[in-house]
Amino acid sequence: MKKVTVSFVLNGDQVEAEVPATWSLLRTLRETFELTGAKEGCGVGECGACTVLVDGMAVNSCIFPVAEVEGKSVTTVEGMAGSDGTLHPLQKAFLENNGVQCGFCTSGMLMSAKALLDENPDPTEEEIRTALSGNLCRCTGYVQIVESIQKAAETMKNKS
Ligand code: FES
Ligand code: FES
Repeated sequence: MKKVTVSFVLNGDQVEAEVPATWSLLRTLRETFELTGAKEGCGVGECGACTVLVDGMAVNSCIFPVAEVEGKSVTTVEGMAGSDGTLHPLQKAFLENNGVQCGFCTSGMLMSAKALLDENPDPTEEEIRTALSGNLCRCTGYVQIVESIQKAAETMKNKS
């Protein structure tokens, strides 16, 4: 099987991997780097459970060819908390506002929310719902997730 070597920054560290050329970024993250926060739900770009950030943009890593991360920066949910374990305000808000139930969608939701708040620190509810439109949740009905993101945005604003 043809392999490719890719070098990229993963959660702040320079990394390199030699993987089958057909692998997705999701498979590489989970199987080569053992980062299992990003989940495989549908595997075809429909559910958002596999969302990670590539150069700050939320992407569906299940359909993102690994070769395309060459030279880029990838952030997964494992890279959200501080190095001392302090949770990101979004993670804290999801926990405190029942934004998590079964948790399957959560890492993808967090990454989409992070991409939004990094770009737009004061989003309207509609902007939040639009940013989450590619992320499906079977449990929460979305209300608590939207509230969690609103609370995190407030916390982040008050700190800046
Ligand atoms: S697993 Fe990637 S979008 Fe569903
Ligand atoms: S918390 Fe279960 S799918 Fe969202």
